[in-house]
Formats: sequence, structure tokens, C-alpha cells
Amino acid sequence: MRLFVGISPSDEIRRSLVKAQHFLSRHGITGVALTPENLHMTLAFIGEYPEIDPVLDAMKEVAFDPFPLTYDHLGTFRESIVWGGTAPSVPLDALAKRLRYCLSKADIPFDSGAFTPHFTLLRHADFSRGIPPVDITPVSMTVHEITLYRSDRGKNGMIYTPVYIVYHP
Ligand code: 2AM
Repeated sequence: MRLFVGISPSDEIRRSLVKAQHFLSRHGITGVALTPENLHMTLAFIGEYPEIDPVLDAMKEVAFDPFPLTYDHLGTFRESIVWGGTAPSVPLDALAKRLRYCLSKADIPFDSGAFTPHFTLLRHADFSRGIPPVDITPVSMTVHEITLYRSDRGKNGMIYTPVYIVYHP
């Protein structure tokens, strides 16, 4: 199964991300929008891995105190991805780093590319004429948990299913 660990946005951030998708669509930015329930921020992409338990054990080893995270801008990758971005956050970067360390220690492979926090909004997007200026009201959440997701190819695109949540009160 294909696995990754990420952060699920709060309901309020999710609604705001969906609003941004609608804004982009109204301004002629075509692309494949992630469905609201699929929106997430990836901390570590594991990919094909046969077992869940070692990943859960590694996730449970990641110590962190709840911290604030604020969605406040849009950004793009390459020619085709539009995402929602968050304000720079030292605890977020530390969380991704610790998680990746715990996965490495457990010999669980993952994509070790740089951590660039984002909530993907559109894939295969055409923004060759630029992204229209958008006024985003910053929305904050407190990150209490990391989520293990399974990724499956559905008939209408990828389906990301939360498999397990490690919660920090
Ligand atoms: P993306 O949103 O930038 O496409 C599930 O595929 C999630 O893992 C997506 O959020 C995807 O990022 C992220 N991801 C990170 N590295 C990946 C990789 N090497 N292959 C596929 N998805 C990757």
C-alpha cells in the first residue's frame, strides 16, 4: 500500500482552501482540484510499504507540543501545481524533521526531498498567464495531531484515507 504522513487541515482552513479553489476556477485557472476531504499537508511521503505497525510506532515516537499553524497565501510548483501555503513555522519544520528522523531510525524509506509545507489545491493547472491577486484572510489552527494516510487510485483520481491519528493533547 502507498502511505504518507501528514497534517489534516482544520475545518476552517479546509473551507478557506476550497474557497481559494473556487476563486482560481472563477479566474480561469483550469486544473484538477483536490476534493475537500483529500486536502492535506504532507510531512513525509513513504510510498509503497507493506506494513502499518512500524510506521505507527515511528509516528508515536515523534514528540511535539501542539503549535499554531496559519494558512495565509497561495503558491505554485513547476508549471502545474497550485497550493495553499502557511506562515513560516519553526515547530512545523521541527515536526517534519523529527518525523523523518524517527522513520529513518526504523528503516522506513521516504522521499527525503526538502520539506516545503503546502496544501495542494490544483494539479495539472494552467497558470501560464499568472495567478490573479488573491486576498486571503489568514486562518489559524492548532496542530495537535499527525495522520497516517493511505493513498489509493480511485476511478475519479487519488483517494487519501486517514488510517491512524497520533494526537497530542
Ligand atoms: P503533492 O501534494 O505536492 O503532490 C500523496 O501523494 C501526497 O504525498 C501528496 O501530498 C504529494 O505531494 C506528496 N508527495 C511527496 N513526495 C511524493 C512523491 N515522491 N510521490 C508522490 N507523492 C509525493
